[in-house]
Amino acid sequence: MSKGLFIIGTDTDVGKTVVTAGLIHLLRSKNYDACYFKPVLSGAAFKNGQFIPGDTNFVKTLGDIPESLENMTPYSFKTPVSPHLAAKIENVAIQVSIIKQKFEDLKQKYPYMVVEGAGGLIVPLKAKYMLYDLVKDLHLPIVVVGRAGLGTINHTLLTVRYAQSVGIKVKGIILNGYDSSNKCHLDNKKTIKELTKLSVLTIPKLKDINVEKIQLGNLKNIIKENLDVKTLIEWMEPC
Ligand SMILES: Nc1ncnc2c1ncn2[C@@H]1O[C@H](COP(=O)(O)OP(=O)(O)OP(=O)(O)O)[C@@H](O)[C@H]1O
Ligand SMILES: [Mg+2]
Repeated sequence: MSKGLFIIGTDTDVGKTVVTAGLIHLLRSKNYDACYFKPVLSGAAFKNGQFIPGDTNFVKTLGDIPESLENMTPYSFKTPVSPHLAAKIENVAIQVSIIKQKFEDLKQKYPYMVVEGAGGLIVPLKAKYMLYDLVKDLHLPIVVVGRAGLGTINHTLLTVRYAQSVGIKVKGIILNGYDSSNKCHLDNKKTIKELTKLSVLTIPKLKDINVEKIQLGNLKNIIKENLDVKTLIEWMEPC
């Protein structure tokens, strides 16, 4: 049986892909055969007659994952909007059964799965089916990735408490772009820890990183300095 984790952002663009790529690299570099799954991606680039899902391409490159982009991302849309709208604009009916089947197929091959959501927890994938419904359908616990600065207490607490209210297990929180010399960042970490009673980890601001251009910067080293593989494995649950 595979073990897995679902990475949920407090918002779009908070660094889910960067953090997930780091986690996958950490696992794979320690010989844990981990794979990435991003079920629905909006804003894919169109190259040589096919959509290239940028997040998936970045994580595949950084983690050196021997899997096809199509298998890791069954639905790629060019339009950079919420999945339900991108699907509507591009005349595609997102089928949850296909997402579940693709996830099952990967689980047969990889003992560790890290899934990245789209946007935040209450993003519709289709009418009346939200990202949190998928988290529950894939039987995964979550880790919340949020910004380190002003506004993150509210966004993080809303995400954590809503997840818990619908029966999703929250394993931990990662604040991205953290600056330990910033009083607001320091207090955010402390306050979120006190209010949630969860472990709060941090990833600093990185240099020369770009998801679209596949620039990896110093992410590999930074992730090793800030996260340990034992915690990551403890966070994962059989799925
Ligand atoms: N720690 C960091 N330091 C510097 N830049 C970062 C950091 N984390 C993310 N970025 C940059 O911020 C942007 C958004 O990051 P990322 O793509 O990981 O967000 P996301 O939450 O996955 O977005 P989406 O909702 O589109 O999937 C990217 O251009 C990335 O290079
Ligand atoms: Mg992303």
